[in-house]
Amino acid sequence: MTASFVDIKEQFDQHFHSFIKKRYGTKDPLSQACSYALEGEGKRVRPLLVLLSNQACGGKITEALDVAVAVEMVHTYSLVHDDLPICDNDDLRRGRPTVHIKFDPATALLCGDALLSDAFTLLTNSPCPQALAMVRELSLAIGGKGMVLGQMMDLMATGHAQELTQLDMIHAHKTGKLIGSACALGGHAAKASQEVIKHLRQFGESIGLAFQIKDDLLDDEIGTGKSLGKDQKQGKLTYRGIMSRQKAEHKARDLTAQAVDLLASLDTGKKKPLLHFVETLLQRKR
Ligand code: IPE
Ligand code: IPE
Ligand code: MG
Ligand code: MG
Ligand code: MG
Repeated sequence: MTASFVDIKEQFDQHFHSFIKKRYGTKDPLSQACSYALEGEGKRVRPLLVLLSNQACGGKITEALDVAVAVEMVHTYSLVHDDLPICDNDDLRRGRPTVHIKFDPATALLCGDALLSDAFTLLTNSPCPQALAMVRELSLAIGGKGMVLGQMMDLMATGHAQELTQLDMIHAHKTGKLIGSACALGGHAAKASQEVIKHLRQFGESIGLAFQIKDDLLDDEIGTGKSLGKDQKQGKLTYRGIMSRQKAEHKARDLTAQAVDLLASLDTGKKKPLLHFVETLLQRKR
């Protein structure tokens, strides 16, 4: 039976919380910081994309749950470091003080390091040879040619006027790459063909760019769990500063429609919850 994204989210949340308790349930400061970071009320978009992509390829959810947790850990590490005073210097995340405010900057730095490394341990719970392919998929997406490069470009562009092509390059790397790998990882866990995995990666990269456009547009909305107007205050290069809200929303919709076309070869019934989920991302309020 095909599960809805609400059912899948429930299963993920249960698995995720028992993992956090088991792995980071002790009283030492590093475990406390890791569980604080993970337990914040994130939307869990990336793990859901892993699980929904897995289902779209006919995979079993039980074989993708740890992969989904690993992806959420990598995402959380990226947020903890992104918020540090030496990067975006934000004190509010997921409606609560950021990790460096709640603890201290050194603990936040090490908490991010721990989450990143521990995520790869979790990926290797998968049977060979998928484990190796998944480690490669994720490390390529988040390293010096992927998310981290995007974060570097973002910092370098801060305070400077830039063009749309450069902004898209930043967004495609800092956000698109991880989301692309989340979808591809769902395919790996389902033992999908290389062709299907490639299409899932491209699908996710397009959805990821649309997701970051929406993130930029939410900078001046209340209820996001982040500080209001932070991008504008910091002189960040964003879609809000480069085109009208209407045009940016149109672009996010176009990117989503193009992404959906990439999955034409997948079973209509099995991919339906994935397609429904990505539609809801266009309407998100946080
Ligand atoms: C925030 O991601 C950072 C971006 C790449 C836009 P999310 O909006 O998914 O943050 P959480 O996980 O829900 O807190
Ligand atoms: C963050 O982008 C991207 C990564 C963490 C890789 P942003 O800086 O726009 O995210 P928010 O707005 O702080 O969540
Ligand atoms: Mg940033
Ligand atoms: Mg930020
Ligand atoms: Mg942002």
